[in-house]
Amino acid sequence: MSIGNKIENLDENKREEKPETRKVSESVVETVHIVRPNHLNGAERLFGGILMQWIDEVAALAAKRHSHRNVITASVDNLRFLKGAYQKDVIVIRGKVTYVGRTSMEVKVDSYVEKIDGKRILINRAFFTMVALDDSDRPTEVPGLGLETGEDRQEWEKAKLRREMRIRRRAEDF
Ligand SMILES: CC(C)(COP(=O)(O)OP(=O)(O)OC[C@H]1O[C@@H](n2cnc3c(N)ncnc32)[C@H](O)[C@@H]1OP(=O)(O)O)[C@@H](O)C(=O)NCCC(=O)NCCS
Repeated sequence: MSIGNKIENLDENKREEKPETRKVSESVVETVHIVRPNHLNGAERLFGGILMQWIDEVAALAAKRHSHRNVITASVDNLRFLKGAYQKDVIVIRGKVTYVGRTSMEVKVDSYVEKIDGKRILINRAFFTMVALDDSDRPTEVPGLGLETGEDRQEWEKAKLRREMRIRRRAEDF
């Protein structure tokens, strides 16, 4: 299939046409970490590689909860370190499935520093494409995504545009 056709047919995997559907809320994952001395880099901030590992785990768990399959990370888009984190900070990482294709799922992962009063400050955002695998480790179909809220629907539309970009980039070997 040409890229043009592939993009035009993005909704070939229409959510409502899939035999099985899971709601967005069913696969939301939230983890909490406390920044310890062994998580710090030379500048006394949380080491980026540690945060990326935590984020990757959350993305994988959300995708597993949605697909009930083993998953692999196909790509990570636009991972942005917005603010630093420091020793003793409480890091909350929240992942939710925002889009599903035939075998892939987009998981949006937001990371926050949670203050003592409960206020959360966004320190990182990333979009993962996770692929579900069958028992022979080949990509396999995932359930549809049940959009429950206006926010879910907005996320879906935005994710569709990101997927379009990914298909173009992949074709251009970017
Ligand atoms: C990801 C992987 C399975 C894709 O395999 P492939 O032979 O290209 O399979 P397909 O072309 O059928 O793609 C499968 C899905 O992945 C998506 N995909 C593949 N490469 C992608 C990329 N670079 N970015 C985003 N999505 C991608 C495709 O769009 C497709 O999604 P869809 O079914 O929802 O339309 C393969 O490249 C792989 O195994 N990569 C290594 C993954 C890994 O080891 N990750 C790190 C450890 S978890």
